[in-house]
Amino acid sequence: MSKILKAVLISAYSTVVFQLLKTLIVNNTEEIIEIEYMIPTPGTLKKMEWELRKLKNNITAISMNFKMPKRLPTDLKYILKWTQAFSHYDSPIFKNGQEALLKYNCTYRNCYFTGDKSLLLDIRYFDAILFDVENYWDYNPILRSPHQKYIFVGLESADNFPVILPKYDSYYNLTWTYKLDSDIFGAYLIVLDKKGNIVGPKVNMEWINPMLPTSDNIRKKLLVKRKAAAWFVSNCKTKGRREVVAKNLSKELLKYGLSIDIYGWCGKLICSKDHMYDCLEDLENDYYFYLAFENSLAEDYVTEKILYPLLHYTVPIVYGGANYSRFLPPGSYIDAGKLNASQIASLMSQAIMNPKLYAEYFRWHNHYVYKEATEVMKACNLCNVLNTIKVKTSRTKFRKWWNVNKTNRTAAEARRSEDIASLHSYQPAHWKITAAD
Ligand SMILES: *[C@@H]1O[C@H](CO)[C@@H](O)[C@H](O)[C@H]1NC(C)=O
Ligand SMILES: *[C@@H]1O[C@H](CO)[C@@H](O)[C@H](O)[C@H]1NC(C)=O
Ligand SMILES: *[C@@H]1O[C@H](CO)[C@@H](O)[C@H](O)[C@H]1NC(C)=O
Ligand SMILES: *[C@@H]1O[C@H](CO)[C@@H](O)[C@H](O)[C@H]1NC(C)=O
Ligand SMILES: *[C@@H]1O[C@H](CO)[C@@H](O)[C@H](O)[C@H]1NC(C)=O
Ligand SMILES: *[C@@H]1O[C@H](CO)[C@@H](O)[C@H](O)[C@H]1NC(C)=O
Ligand SMILES: *[C@@H]1O[C@H](CO)[C@@H](O)[C@H](O)[C@H]1NC(C)=O
Ligand SMILES: *[C@@H]1O[C@H](CO)[C@@H](O)[C@H](O)[C@H]1NC(C)=O
Ligand SMILES: *[C@@H]1O[C@H](CO)[C@@H](O)[C@H](O)[C@H]1NC(C)=O
Repeated sequence: MSKILKAVLISAYSTVVFQLLKTLIVNNTEEIIEIEYMIPTPGTLKKMEWELRKLKNNITAISMNFKMPKRLPTDLKYILKWTQAFSHYDSPIFKNGQEALLKYNCTYRNCYFTGDKSLLLDIRYFDAILFDVENYWDYNPILRSPHQKYIFVGLESADNFPVILPKYDSYYNLTWTYKLDSDIFGAYLIVLDKKGNIVGPKVNMEWINPMLPTSDNIRKKLLVKRKAAAWFVSNCKTKGRREVVAKNLSKELLKYGLSIDIYGWCGKLICSKDHMYDCLEDLENDYYFYLAFENSLAEDYVTEKILYPLLHYTVPIVYGGANYSRFLPPGSYIDAGKLNASQIASLMSQAIMNPKLYAEYFRWHNHYVYKEATEVMKACNLCNVLNTIKVKTSRTKFRKWWNVNKTNRTAAEARRSEDIASLHSYQPAHWKITAAD
């Protein structure tokens, strides 16, 4: 007895009709698979919020008494995206429904994404709520069910998006971030072995040692390179001060008659987004090294830009807050966070003059393959965890985990945290703060 009931309710009676739907659900006489739209009359939710505010001091009591409604005989897990992440609008995860999970043939496909807070009328009916660190202009839910999981989503650097308010120290049930010890895997890249198994990145990564010598095919390919280093960059002044590191390195390279070709807003060369393919081809054919410098320094914050050199037979010179041995095999890169400019310039010059030495950087090709961790893949991880982890109390000392040794923020950040604090005391929904990058 399965019946698809698509309810499009745009009227003052939506609440009444929803009550009827709920009775149907409780009586188990109908199986509602999908309620496509549930649009309460303008102001309904606002009115509810105001009512709740009046009860502010009794909210804990109300929460304790909350019982999950009896559900339809489906095991669908409803995931609410609390605020749309502005920089991820195009990614599959942020498409509503189950498309992402079906597309990637995930093991678990019984998750349903939505950005519509009123889809189930009561926010407590959602199985999970995603809170994106980039979005702090919507105030958080007032009522919370002990059955649902609050999930912290962090794809942007903790240094640019610190979490400051003490209330978050035990707030989220699960973390879904680039940090490698997150509950749900969210790194920008994956390392596979030659059989296609995902082996990294990991906190305690163990690399094959020793690695086999670089193949003749790759050696031959490397012989045509003629230029020292490239850098594609558009953000010229960063918190991590990578521009200073690059400038220092340029100075040292000059002593060897070498230079860095800078493409983008911060340099003289042009590589438009539409021509990225051509630029990467140039990188592969012409350049020995690539500057994979992160714009901010935070633990495990290694973005997909490191894949440019890795996927294009170029050696990455890395700079960031990560312990790169979690991400890259030994001997495959140069860490500008550990060496000074003159040491790096010397290593580069030696490698450029000695093809045998340069080829050593590519031994990893015998054992590993790098890939971008697609958003769809990440959606699978989320649905897997929601199906396998039933109960998870929040991480205490969350801020220490996310901010990592940087709990003492600057005055500007403290000011912002005050703004956020006032936001959480119910500013109008249209209130916005622009991101601080
Ligand atoms: C649901 O069941 C109750 C009692 O079992 C009954 O009074 C009510 O009419 C039923 N509602 C519907 C919509 O069938
Ligand atoms: C809050 O709860 C207390 C005791 O449970 C009750 O006396 C009081 O009337 C409640 N306040 C409101 C606004 O409902
Ligand atoms: C999806 O996975 C199932 C089993 O896991 C497999 O039988 C099927 O061929 C896969 N479909 C696609 C399109 O990959
Ligand atoms: C970096 O990670 C490697 C491997 O995971 C570990 O052996 C090493 O101790 C770490 N280094 C630091 C400074 O934490
Ligand atoms: C850059 O070079 C200057 C002068 O040699 C040095 O003082 C500074 O520490 C260097 N900065 C970085 C980030 O390497
Ligand atoms: C770079 O580091 C090496 C080794 O620690 C040191 O001998 C050298 O003086 C340093 N160079 C600069 C410019 O700081
Ligand atoms: C989520 O965390 C909160 C706060 O620690 C806790 O009360 C709640 O029971 C947890 N929910 C689940 C489903 O584990
Ligand atoms: C954070 O601080 C602790 C102790 O002060 C230190 O052991 C640890 O290495 C630091 N972590 C990072 C990523 O700097
Ligand atoms: C935090 O920073 C402020 C200003 O920079 C300083 O006065 C204070 O001592 C610092 N606190 C800690 C715990 O480091």
